[in-house]
Amino acid sequence: MDLSELSPAYVRSIAPYQPGKPISELARELGLDERRIVKLASNENPRGVGPRTRAAIEGALGDIARYPDGNGYELKLALSKRYGAEMTQIVLGNGSNDVLELVALAFLEPGRSAVYSQHAFAVYPLATQARGARSIVVPARDYGHDLEVMADAVDEDTRVVWIANPNNPTGTMVPPERLEAFVRRVPERAIIVIDEAYNEYLHANLRAATVSWLKRHPNLIVTRTFSKAYGLAGLRVGYALAHPSVADLMNRVRQPFNVNGIALAAAVAALDDMEFVARSYADNLQGMRQIEEGARALGLEWIPSYGNFITIRVGRASEIYKRLLRRGVIVRPVGGGYQLPEHLRVTIGTADENERFLAALAASVRE
Ligand SMILES: Cc1ncc(COP(=O)(O)O)c(C=O)c1O
Repeated sequence: MDLSELSPAYVRSIAPYQPGKPISELARELGLDERRIVKLASNENPRGVGPRTRAAIEGALGDIARYPDGNGYELKLALSKRYGAEMTQIVLGNGSNDVLELVALAFLEPGRSAVYSQHAFAVYPLATQARGARSIVVPARDYGHDLEVMADAVDEDTRVVWIANPNNPTGTMVPPERLEAFVRRVPERAIIVIDEAYNEYLHANLRAATVSWLKRHPNLIVTRTFSKAYGLAGLRVGYALAHPSVADLMNRVRQPFNVNGIALAAAVAALDDMEFVARSYADNLQGMRQIEEGARALGLEWIPSYGNFITIRVGRASEIYKRLLRRGVIVRPVGGGYQLPEHLRVTIGTADENERFLAALAASVRE
């Protein structure tokens, strides 16, 4: 018997998410020392974890025999203070990916649809398809979201509109005024998810006041993560801010202990460490310039990025990706699902890592 037939056709046709290649895997394949490998493939924070957050993690180790606080009281309290929101408006997730899944679980089903842009973050098609809902994919404009066409694409069945701002893997951003006009236009029966995983990397003038829009737009969900500028990708913590009744629905489909105790303690400490975030922002800006200059020197084009990564047009990207791997540098090809077969996405690393990448890129392009 073909066991795959036990599963609905919409699950069978899902193309699995392709994560960045782990350092340990490349080290095994090439027989390299892990310390010699540079990984710029998953938009992680090259600063690591700040000392205060590390201390909170160590402090939480003593409690790991117990289940965590399934309601995440301390973290929700800290977030509600930060945003001036009610605790009932917050949903915590095992990374913001988990929160995106909760949106799909709560609002999508066969017969419904979700709207998102071409080249948008890969989890939107995955989460939509896993619920048997229909995807309405709007062609990108200059690699970014074409909000006017996206608003037109919302139909009677649409229950979710996914927007990544900035978007991964293109690094594009929609300005606050255009985003707000879009939110006003979309009918209330469709939930608008504004995924702000890279918000902390935006210049303050470019950050939309999305949380303040929640009062006027109960169909809006704003998602954020501790994986990027806060440096906690490995611990998996993210959250959504939403209208209390929307948050309530998402919490009903959430696993009771979806965020572990170490992650909760780390996130509370990290949220408070604004200096760490400010340094991550400044380092990122500098690293971005460094990689842009290197790409320019090689005569390569890139998509101007507002995130902690940059997507560079290298031509035969899958071949260049392999050549970089042989030189111990892991980046991310964005062909396949993202429909950018000539581009490689590179996370901004430390100055040394960026230098290693640029040297390997120069050699790989010449090879
Ligand atoms: C646009 C976007 N949203 C959400 C996520 C999810 O990150 P996490 O689950 O680590 O919060 C990512 C991760 O790369 C992302 O690029």
